[in-house]
Amino acid sequence: MKHFKSICALLMCLLLAFPFAACGGNQDGGQGGNQGGTQNEQGTQDGSQSGNEQEGQGGSQSGNEQEGQGGSQSGNEQESQGGSQSGIEQESQGGNQNQPETPSSGFPITEEAPGEGPQSKSNITSVEGVPLITLNNGVQMPRFGLGTQIQELENGDLGTLNRTSRECVAAALEAGYRHLDDAHGYLNERGVAQGIKDSGVPREEIWITDKLWPSEYANAATAIDQMLDRLDVEYIDLLYLHHPAGSIATIESAWRAMEDAYREGKIRALGISNFDNRMEAFNAIMDEEIKPQVMQIECHPMAQRVETRELAAQYNIQVECWYPLKHADDTLLGDTTLEEIAEAHGKSVVQVIVRWHIQEGFSVIPGSTNPAHIQENIQVFDFKLSDEEMDRIRALDRGDRGRSFRLQYGNSAGMFGSAPREWNGEF
Ligand SMILES: NC(=O)c1ccc[n+]([C@@H]2O[C@H](COP(=O)([O-])OP(=O)(O)OC[C@H]3O[C@@H](n4cnc5c(N)ncnc54)[C@H](OP(=O)(O)O)[C@@H]3O)[C@@H](O)[C@H]2O)c1
Repeated sequence: MKHFKSICALLMCLLLAFPFAACGGNQDGGQGGNQGGTQNEQGTQDGSQSGNEQEGQGGSQSGNEQEGQGGSQSGNEQESQGGSQSGIEQESQGGNQNQPETPSSGFPITEEAPGEGPQSKSNITSVEGVPLITLNNGVQMPRFGLGTQIQELENGDLGTLNRTSRECVAAALEAGYRHLDDAHGYLNERGVAQGIKDSGVPREEIWITDKLWPSEYANAATAIDQMLDRLDVEYIDLLYLHHPAGSIATIESAWRAMEDAYREGKIRALGISNFDNRMEAFNAIMDEEIKPQVMQIECHPMAQRVETRELAAQYNIQVECWYPLKHADDTLLGDTTLEEIAEAHGKSVVQVIVRWHIQEGFSVIPGSTNPAHIQENIQVFDFKLSDEEMDRIRALDRGDRGRSFRLQYGNSAGMFGSAPREWNGEF
């Protein structure tokens, strides 16, 4: 059964990275083709994070922080308990969301999020001990959330996918999650939107992340408005370019449309996803007026992404980890070091992995469709890994050999150029 799960996970990996490639001709809109991800190698262990943080517990590595408990190492910090070692301190919850601080990296703060517009209604606070990070534009983001992609259902009936997403999101919000990671490419925005409504949690108290698909880059302004409609919200908290696919000019034009939407108050923070796989595109974005606040990359104890984290730190960009559990791969969840540490704390291996991400300073978005797992995964703010335990987990890093994917992108968007399927059914 374990082997079967591993094989399924591998297949799901392909779906994840190439949601439409794997769907092939079954996708409306003519997606297909095979993107063919390959493994790459990079990094060894440790590495540093950046950004301005606020935590429930535990230490983070740098940047401007705000913690519920525990210590952080540097930067401008905000803590409710425990001692911070340096920097600016503020209250742990609420307030001050649009007050940028000087980043510890010395990299200039990017253009501050506008005070006016729909986004000004946001009211993000720490719930269940989840740390908030103050991003390089002064906006605060919960550093833990739910990954909403359900790869297993992307090939099938989109009504089933959206109904499942609705239930997962409502369960997560009920459990105290206040950060949801979505993408147009996950084909479930309407389900996520319905789950938010079902939960009764005010939209303003939730951090909603979405991602533009490359097929939308050439008409990104329209795509952003369509996204707002599908999510049925006035603003998106974090909008990523999902993949650095297609011509650099088109990627830049999409970024500029995102900058415009940011200035109009439709988006609170901007991000780049998977740009670690195409430095030409990464560098092009760094030349734009508004720098990214967050970059999303594959990262977990077996692929700790040291070099990419150092790169992000140079620009004071927060790193957010996709595949934090390596999609429940047995090589990670069955690791004996993690099992020993978990036993010592009376926690599960998954909880130790999520806790490791938090103490490393990452934003982390484990995915789950199981309400018990959703509940379990947020129960990580009542214990702390010791320095020795953190080092033991850092020693699990396999560099880029530990990565599940290394996507290859080029001037042709290829299969990324096909539009995602849309679901217009009723709940
Ligand atoms: N930017 C990108 O290109 C990109 C790529 C991939 C993913 N992402 C984002 O990252 C999120 C996370 O990635 P992911 O969901 O693919 O992988 P993941 O979070 O590493 O792992 C999810 C898997 O772990 C299992 N799981 C979760 N909690 C568990 C627990 N407590 N005990 C045992 N198993 C557990 C889930 O099964 P159950 O459902 O049974 O709990 C699911 O099979 C995605 O949802 C998506 O939002 C972004």
